[in-house]
Amino acid sequence: MSAAVIDGKAFAAGLRARVAEYAATFEQSAGRKAGLAVVLVGEDPASQVYVASKHKATIECGMASFEYKLPDDTAQDTLIALVDQLNADPMVDGILVQLPLPRHLDEQAVVERIDPAKDVDGLTPVSTGRLALGLPGLVPCTPLGSLMLLKDRLGDLSGLDAVVIGRSILVGKPMAQLLLAQSCTVTIAHSRTKNLAEVVRRADIVVAAVGRPEMVKGDWLKPGATVIDVGINRLPPTEGKPKGRLVGDVDFASAAAVAEAITPVPGGVGPMTIAVLLRNTLVAAHRNAGVPLADGAL
Ligand code: GUN
Repeated sequence: MSAAVIDGKAFAAGLRARVAEYAATFEQSAGRKAGLAVVLVGEDPASQVYVASKHKATIECGMASFEYKLPDDTAQDTLIALVDQLNADPMVDGILVQLPLPRHLDEQAVVERIDPAKDVDGLTPVSTGRLALGLPGLVPCTPLGSLMLLKDRLGDLSGLDAVVIGRSILVGKPMAQLLLAQSCTVTIAHSRTKNLAEVVRRADIVVAAVGRPEMVKGDWLKPGATVIDVGINRLPPTEGKPKGRLVGDVDFASAAAVAEAITPVPGGVGPMTIAVLLRNTLVAAHRNAGVPLADGAL
C-alpha cells in the first residue's frame, strides 16, 4: 500500500470541537441554545442507529436536540403538520427528516415543506438552486464533508479533473456542484456510463457514491489520484465476521496501491456527515437569530 489514509474520524472530531466552541458563544449571544429537530418515521434499523447518533452528537456539542419518532403508518398530513410546527418553532434552527421515508409517503413534498432557512440537509429546491447558482446557502452534509477532506488534503482544487460516480440528490449531484464551484473539471458518471473504468482513469479526484460494494478497482485509477469513498455497504456474514464486513464502493486494497490518498470505510467520510450536520445547524442558528458569524468560521 502506498496511499495515505485520510482520517475522517480525526477531522470530524476537530470540526465538532470547533462547533462546540461556537455553540457556546452562540448561546451567550442569543440567550438560547442552537436547536436541531430530527424526524424519524418508521422502524428502519439503520435509520434508528443514525438518528440516535445524531441526537447524542447534538447534545455533546452543546446544542438542543428535538427528536420526533413517528409510527410507520403515519399519514402524509400528520408529517406535513409536524414540519409546519417545526418551521414555526423559534427554538428549532435545523430540521432533518430522516430518509428514506416509508413508501406510502411523498418524500419530495415533505422535503419541500421544510423552511429553507432550517434546511440543514440542503435538500429543498431553494438550497439546491442556490448551490447551482453559486449563492451562499445550506449544502448537503456528506458532499460538504467530502469537500472539506479534499481541500484539507489537496489545498487548491482548481483545474483538477474530478469524476463523481453516482448522481443521487443526497450526494452525487451536490458533490459535482461543489467541485465545479472549486473550478474542477467535473464528470458525473452513473450506471449508464460507458467505459466507466476509462472515465475514472482520467480523474485526479474520484468520489464514489454508488452503493455497490468494492466496485471501483485499483486498476481503474490514475496513479496519484485522491479517492473519496462515500459508500457504506455491509457484506454477507462470514465465519469470522457474523455481522458481515463493512466496505465502501472502492476496493480499498487495490486502490490504496495506486492512489495518493484514500478514505477508509469505516472512518473516512462517515464521521464527517454528522459533524457537518452540526456545523450546518449552527450556521443556520446564527442566521436565524441574527447573530453574526465570520465567513469561513466553521
Ligand atoms: N439518510 C441517509 N443519509 C441521509 C442524510 O444525509 N439526510 C437525510 N435526511 N436522510 C439520510
